[in-house]
Order: sequence, then C-alpha cells, then structure tokens
Amino acid sequence: MGLGAVTLLIVAVAVIGWLAFLLRNTRVRHRADVPPPNLTPYLTDDDLEVKRLDRVLLSALIAVAVIAIVMPIYYLNEGTRQAAATEHYADVAVERGHEWFIEYQCGNCHGADGGGGGAVFVEARSGLSTTWAAPSIDDVLYRYTVDEARYWIVYGRAGTPMPAWGAEGGGPLNTQQIDELLAYLDSIQIPQSEVLAAVDKRVEIELTRLEGADTAVAAAVTGQEAAIAALEAVPGQYEAIRDLPRRLESLLSDPATCTERSAALFSTSCDGTATDVDRDGLSDAAEINLPALVGQIVASAPVSDARNAIEKLEFDPSLAFTTSSGATPIPDLDSAQLLLTDLATIERDLRLTAGNLDLLLAAAQDGLTAVVAARDARRYAVDIPALAAETFGGDEAQAERAVGLYNAYCARCHTAGYSAGIAFTQEAGSGAMGPSLREGRSVVQFPNIDDHYDFVVGGSTNGVQYGVNGVGRGWMPGFGAMLTEADIMLIVQYERTLP
Ligand code: HEC
Ligand code: HEC
Repeated sequence: MGLGAVTLLIVAVAVIGWLAFLLRNTRVRHRADVPPPNLTPYLTDDDLEVKRLDRVLLSALIAVAVIAIVMPIYYLNEGTRQAAATEHYADVAVERGHEWFIEYQCGNCHGADGGGGGAVFVEARSGLSTTWAAPSIDDVLYRYTVDEARYWIVYGRAGTPMPAWGAEGGGPLNTQQIDELLAYLDSIQIPQSEVLAAVDKRVEIELTRLEGADTAVAAAVTGQEAAIAALEAVPGQYEAIRDLPRRLESLLSDPATCTERSAALFSTSCDGTATDVDRDGLSDAAEINLPALVGQIVASAPVSDARNAIEKLEFDPSLAFTTSSGATPIPDLDSAQLLLTDLATIERDLRLTAGNLDLLLAAAQDGLTAVVAARDARRYAVDIPALAAETFGGDEAQAERAVGLYNAYCARCHTAGYSAGIAFTQEAGSGAMGPSLREGRSVVQFPNIDDHYDFVVGGSTNGVQYGVNGVGRGWMPGFGAMLTEADIMLIVQYERTLP
C-alpha cells in the first residue's frame, strides 16, 4: 500500500472516531432529562481543567505530530513515484516479452537464451532440407538500433526461416507485443565485454569449419547417395511388409487363434476356443506365431522409431508380459496393440513413399547433383596464401583472421548459401540479402577505404545515402560496438580484394 493510502486511512479512522464520539455524547445528553444548558450554571475552570482535557490536548498533539512527520515523507516520496511507476511498467513489459518469446518459440531457432541456433529449412538452390543457422540475438542491439531490430521481427526475413511476427508483416503479434518482445531482447543483451570476448572463439569456429569443409561436403555426398539407395530399396520393403497387417489381424481375430480381448482390438468378437495359458488376452497359438511376424518386420522395414519399438517386443505363450525391453514389463495385450499401430505406421510410410517414388527419387538425384557439384567446385574454399600475398603483405595469420572474421560476421548476408551450410556456400562475397562484394564492388562504392571502414562501423540507416550511390535501408548492421578497429580494418581490406 502506498504512503498516500496509509495517510488517508489514518485520517479516515480519526474522522470516523471523532464522529462516533460526538454521536455518543449527544445521545447520552438527550437521554438524561436535564434543564436546557442556558439555564444551567456552566462548569468552573476547576471542573474543566481535569485529566480529560489533558487527554484531548494530547491526542490533538499526537495528531499534529503524525501529520508533521508523514507530510514531508509523502512529499519526498512523491518525486520518485512517477519514475517508480515507469520502472514497474518497464519490468512488466520485459516479463510479458519473455512470455511471447516462449509462446512464439523464438528460442527454438535462436537458442533458449538467444545465443544462436538453427532451423530446418529447404535450401532453394538444391531443394535439399538443411539446418539454416539463426544468429544470436542476445547481442543484436549492439549492431542494430531498436527500430531496425523491430523491422526484422515485424516483417521477418524472406528467403530464410525467420517468419514475420508483426501484424503488418502478416504475423500474429500486435505493436504492443512487439514492443514487449523488444523490451525483453533489451533485457537479455550480454555485456559488451562478452560480445568482444566471443570474437576469437567465433573466428576459430569459422576457420575450423573451413578446414573440415572438404570432409563435410564429401560426407554430404555419401549421405545423399545413401538416401537414394534407401529410396530405391523401398519397393522391395513394401512388398515384404504390405501383407503383414492383414496377417496380424487374422492371428488376433480369426476363430482358430483369437481371444475375446485380442479380437476386440479389431472391434470384432471371437467365436473360437483357443487356449490362453498365461491369460494375457493373447491365445497361445497367436503368441507362438507372433515372434516370426516381428522378425519379418524387423528384417524388412527400414530403420525408424516404429521399427525399433517393434524390435523390442517379445511374445511367449507362458509369459503374460513382454519383458525383454528391460525396463517396465508391458502386458502382452498392450504389446499387441503397440505392434498393431507401429506396423500400420511402417506400412503407411512405405506405401506413400513407394507411391511417390519417381518424384522423390528425382528430387534426391537433384540434391545429389548439387552436393557433388559443391564438392567439385569447392566454392567455399579460400586460398589463404594467395590472399596473404595479395592483400596482407604475405602475413598468413592476418589473412586467416580476416577470412574468419568475415565468415563469422558478414558471410551470412553477403555470401550466398552461407547459413545453409558448407555444401551450399557459394563464393565469398557472392551476395545474398546484402549486395555482392566481389570484383572490387566495394571499391566502386567506397573509393576511399576510410569511408568503407566508417560504413562497416556504423552500418546503414534507412533512407540515408552511403558510399557513392548506395541508399541504406537500415538493413546493414553496424559493427563498431562488436569488433575492434583492427578487426574491422582486416575485414575491409579483405573485402576490397575479393576476386
Ligand atoms: C523458425 C526459426 C526462427 C524463429 C521461430 C524465429 N527466428 Fe528470428 N531469425 C531466424 C533466422 C534464420 C534469422 C536470420 C536470417 C538470415 O539468415 O538472414 C533470424 C533473424 C532474426 C533477427 C535479425 C537478427 C540479425 O542480426 O540479422 C531478429 C531480431 C530475430 N530473428 C528475432 C526473432 C524473434 C524475437 C523471434 C520470436 C518472436 C524469432 N526471431 C523467431 C529464425 C527464426
Ligand atoms: C544482417 C545482414 C548483414 C550483415 C550481417 C552484414 N551486412 Fe553488409 N550489407 C547488408 C545490406 C542489406 C546492405 C545494403 C545496405 C542496406 O540495405 O541497408 C549491406 C551493404 C554492405 C556494404 C556496401 C555494399 C555496396 O556495394 O553497396 C558493405 C561494404 C558491407 N555491407 C560490408 C559488410 C561487412 C564488412 C559485414 C561484416 C562485418 C557486413 N556487411 C555484414 C547486410 C548485411
């Protein structure tokens, strides 16, 4: 309760007490049958100056003292009340922003703490499904203003997994919710010292990625070949599996091998007399036959969760539980139910794949062509010694750092396919959401290297000219608060000599 409310309460209690006192006094006087006051000799000083007067004066004194103390405190507090209310409002905005962050699953892609992550995405050039890197956003306000960050949240980033969240962009959130999200983002920004401390680590990750690139792309080729082989095996697998659901049904519901409970799995009744020694709802005859059926599924179906689950099922006419899975024993009837659903899943997946095999194979072949081309072209590769010789006076360590820095901070917008992974990465500076920087483009834009440097430090501003004929949209982040001057200069030198 605020100080104002407390004061008000005290005053109210005092007033009510006083009124009650008056009321009681008049009542008492009325009841007594006395002559009117003007005919009665009044009280003498001695009668009046008694304890009672002292008490009345004392309570008045106390009341004055309370007001004298409370009023200044109230006065002093009043000055900060507005600020406190604003702060409270800001805290609430952060809290609610956190709720939106969770409800709309920003963390699924950007990491639960906003530290960066990835999202499954179909890469447009190859048609292959890949993991698209999502940037860290616990440092986004070091490179973008709040309004620039707001733009991306409202409109998303077309051609990437980042969806539009604001109503203007066709998303689900209103302006207030976006404000709250931004308040939350502001609250999770890491200290600048951590932003700077992360640089070396990020450079190292990029250089390791380059070193392992040939191996990774070769693995992508092998993986795609395996995917094609798996598709080609599907018709045979489907042939081997397609009759099994019917066979399972007849084992559990035909008169020779059913019980009431097993037939009930198929919503029919059982009019047979098969024995069920372990009284688990599956007849002995069914349980003798089930292991062979399970074996056939495991042998024929491609690896999947459903197949793995079926592999664990063991049926034995003298055991009422399937125990081989180790952990909790499952009643046999439940195992039969599980077998039924998982087999249906396997059969359905194989049937759908077999039915669309030509389309799927053609797409997989295109994907293979794309990764084989990536392996042969090695567009991701950078010739460090050559770069060092041309740009850094033969200093390979500087050349390497320049490449690591560019890949860590610029490539996701200026090198096509970079975020989709190494197999999809085109030549450095080939241009993506940001313009191409190859073939001296940045020298054309910034004849003077200092202007180039300044632009990278500050980024672009919507509607403001940059370089000779660039018009900013506020999309190019500023890196002055994230990278040292020396590091930015390395990147700028690298960009100016991109082939
Ligand atoms: C499905 C994955 C996904 C979800 C969900 C998602 N994002 Fe993104 N977001 C991305 C990707 C990917 C990018 C970078 C796109 C690119 O490669 O240019 C991005 C970019 C951004 C950017 C621009 C950062 C920069 O430096 O380029 C901001 C800000 C952002 N997201 C905030 C959010 C917020 C807030 C939410 C939740 C409301 C959210 N994102 C949900 C995938 C996602
Ligand atoms: C989030 C995406 C993004 C990132 C990351 C990014 N840029 Fe840009 N960059 C852009 C966009 C977009 C433009 C065009 C200006 C605009 O639209 O506001 C641009 C423009 C440029 C230009 C001018 C090119 C021209 O010819 O007009 C240079 C130079 C540049 N960026 C360098 C860099 C460097 C260096 C880095 C890394 C330190 C970097 N960029 C990181 C998006 C990005």
